[in-house]
Amino acid sequence: MKISVSILKEKDNIKDVIEKINLTDADYIHIDVQDNTYTSNISFPVETLNNISDYNNKKLDIHLMSNNPEELIDEYSILNPEYITFHLEATNNPYGCIQKIKSKGIKVGIALNPETDINNLVEYLPYIDLVLVMSVTPGLGGQSFLDNTSYKMEEISKLKERFSNYIISADGGINDKTINLIRDYVDMVVSGSFITDSNDYQYSIDLLKE
Ligand code: DX5
Ligand code: ZN
Repeated sequence: MKISVSILKEKDNIKDVIEKINLTDADYIHIDVQDNTYTSNISFPVETLNNISDYNNKKLDIHLMSNNPEELIDEYSILNPEYITFHLEATNNPYGCIQKIKSKGIKVGIALNPETDINNLVEYLPYIDLVLVMSVTPGLGGQSFLDNTSYKMEEISKLKERFSNYIISADGGINDKTINLIRDYVDMVVSGSFITDSNDYQYSIDLLKE
């Protein structure tokens, strides 16, 4: 199980938090990008991340929670992330987003909101590297896991019999309890407050990986 640590709740001291994450065996730092359109929050304008490589030694997993994600790909690709994930609901041109991210040599993720039907995703599956299943409504860290999203992860994992190119990640409300509802279906989890509110990041990560 890969672990991507979300720093959304830690906007004010991201350097301190990232230096603590560096000391763990987490696989990625998850960066939530919000421009006050798709959600009603703002987070991590690219200029606040420009010098992130000075103090971060983890790979980046960028989650665009913004409308018209195609307009953000150029600026965020400069951070050289492993993944850029956009929301299917936030663009009229998913294929354009896929192509643009791939043209930068970056892996492509598509995120699905809790209410979005899996059928809307299927045609894109052959072309992407990651499916991010939202297990909360996008916008804030520290929300409760929505139990009815685990069936979606199960269904998307069954589709791997037809397409084997993508991994499945879950985002929102993941902790040492909720992970047990989804462990069989996902390859990666995004976890924010469960890790960053704890005194011992590595111990919390170990509980998720168990
Ligand atoms: C939710 C964000 C998540 C969030 C996860 O809108 O996309 O990445 O920060 O944080 P927790 O684990 O606290 O729900
Ligand atoms: Zn996220």
